[in-house]
Amino acid sequence: MPNSALFSTIRSVFTNKKIKGKAHQPFIDRFIGNAILLHSLFSQLYSKRADFETRFMEMIELISDAYLERNSTLVKRDKEKEKQGIWFLSNNMAGMSLYVDRFVGSLKAMPEKLDYLQELGLNLVHLMPLFESPEGASDGGYAVSNYRVIDKRFGTLDDLKSLQKSLQEKNMNLMIDIVLNHTSNQHEWAQKAREGDSFYQDFYYLYDDRTIPNQMEQSMPEVFPESSPGNFSYDKKTNKWVMSVFHNYQWDLNFTNPHVLHAMLDNVFFYANLGIDILRVDAPAFIWKQMGTSCQNLPEAHIILQFIKIALETATPGMAILGESIVAPKQIMDYFGKGIMTTHECDLAYNATQMALQWDALATADTRNMLANQPVILQKPLGCTWINYTRCHDDIGLGFEDSYIEAVGYTPYLHRDYLKNYLGGRLVTSPSSGDLFGVNPKTNDARISGTLASLCGLEKAINKKDAKAIQTSIDKILLMQANSVLLGGIPMVFYGDEFGCTNDYSYLKDPSKSYDNRWMHRPVIDWKKNAKIRKKGTVENQIFKGIQHILNIRKSNNIFSDTNNLEWLESHNPSVVGFKRTLGNQQVFCLFNYSAETQGLTYYVFNSVRKQTQKLLNLSDKSVIKIGKDHEHLMFKPYQFYVLLAESHHSNLLTIQQR
Ligand code: GLC
Repeated sequence: MPNSALFSTIRSVFTNKKIKGKAHQPFIDRFIGNAILLHSLFSQLYSKRADFETRFMEMIELISDAYLERNSTLVKRDKEKEKQGIWFLSNNMAGMSLYVDRFVGSLKAMPEKLDYLQELGLNLVHLMPLFESPEGASDGGYAVSNYRVIDKRFGTLDDLKSLQKSLQEKNMNLMIDIVLNHTSNQHEWAQKAREGDSFYQDFYYLYDDRTIPNQMEQSMPEVFPESSPGNFSYDKKTNKWVMSVFHNYQWDLNFTNPHVLHAMLDNVFFYANLGIDILRVDAPAFIWKQMGTSCQNLPEAHIILQFIKIALETATPGMAILGESIVAPKQIMDYFGKGIMTTHECDLAYNATQMALQWDALATADTRNMLANQPVILQKPLGCTWINYTRCHDDIGLGFEDSYIEAVGYTPYLHRDYLKNYLGGRLVTSPSSGDLFGVNPKTNDARISGTLASLCGLEKAINKKDAKAIQTSIDKILLMQANSVLLGGIPMVFYGDEFGCTNDYSYLKDPSKSYDNRWMHRPVIDWKKNAKIRKKGTVENQIFKGIQHILNIRKSNNIFSDTNNLEWLESHNPSVVGFKRTLGNQQVFCLFNYSAETQGLTYYVFNSVRKQTQKLLNLSDKSVIKIGKDHEHLMFKPYQFYVLLAESHHSNLLTIQQR
């Protein structure tokens, strides 16, 4: 379509929908500015289809309707966010991921917990999947059967709307998921497909026999090799094989069909207009399939995400998107957009490599692998940011690259084996009580389940009533959290970890969960136990206060905003890793001892600030540390971390709260 025809089509849509005049001008400008890009992205996906122009016209209508449906409060909020610059880079952002039912029972009860979250230092809530999914075959809500109706286990859409209002009043943000890659086999589209409706059969990948599935499986890895081996399932009703990369009840959507993109973008806008601040796009790496490939991270998957991002920038600009792409570090980077599309794809991505590397360091007391991976992780473009975390609802994958493991002198296979045994509770000498998840006997791959506290040794220590080991595990928990929180990007605490929940084995009694040991780290919160956070010196109190303190340090100093101001340090001690962040005349050094031993670090590491100052302000306790001579040592207790600020004047730090 020539540009002139494109613009006249857009103009005719605007005229029909009465989009004209001053009030609409910002939207009109955004649309005109993005039109050629939207058209180009759409044509990269679908230009070979005879109905291409009609489908694109429908997209113009959809984007315009989404804009018209945005209420004035949200438009105002969009403008406020725009004024802040890139709002999600701020050091004020910090969140918690939680299952509404397991955290507090229902959506209705959520508002009463917002003070608690704020007390911890959080201003973002990630609610795990809320929309209808069949009980017993829900994959924790990631098998959605209705994208518009809240599952009655959690409440109603009105409950979600009033929670969103309460969050807004408290200046807090809301994040929810959209599952783009697949629907439940109980979704209306799947049901219609099963009844033989060819329009909806095209929404999925259905095959009459195993010929194509067999060919595709040659190159497709398995996601859940234990509980759901293979990538296709037989559907009795249609007598067909359906692609189901995750569980057999999660049917992969066919994005080669533009009707699918239209229907899912419609759902994305529905969430945007509910007032969602960050939309977590589940498993985007999988959304495009092609014979002969792994069917992950394909260029078209990126084009779809870019199309969605530009459509959002046009109609509902206040909602950012987080791509949940848990892939190799080099590939994660692509989800921020490449080349001229840099910063026009996902605004945020999980720093999954860093998370796994922190577990690697904790298990080995050797931080060299973490350091070796940083040049890739640091390629994150300015304007996008990470979700930094120590644990989430999923397993820990050890997907970092072999070459770095080799570069620091380990054999990749043996190294991963050690990590799995150590964290997965297979080593008698290990304090961790996790378990292996997704063991693939064909490749010997496995991932790890377990709560932060249990993986850090708290569960075993409590069982043994070993006070010293309890203290050590608390130190480990705080070290892990400090590393994630101080990195920059949005720290995301996983619910229960804020007061040391150990593994919850009740899932074993529930047949709909017992096949999936990720439920061990998705606890049902015991608020009586949680009340111990108020009693000084308890385990719960030390962990809660410790995390609160770290979050407070971050919030009180905008050196922790993500302006790509981070540089990793060569520490001369493999057990201690550190980075420095710079802002104007300030530099903050964050240093972490990952070993169970006392360690020393030569003051040489502070050479970059020596000319500026001889003193460092310890942000944890506000003590002042004098920088010693190069060959002298700053000493670390086991698992101790430091946050040390160097600047000429310390007076502006008085706001930092005492622990
Ligand atoms: C994502 C979710 C995970 C789920 C999968 C399939 O990776 O985090 O929990 O099983 O997608 O939807």
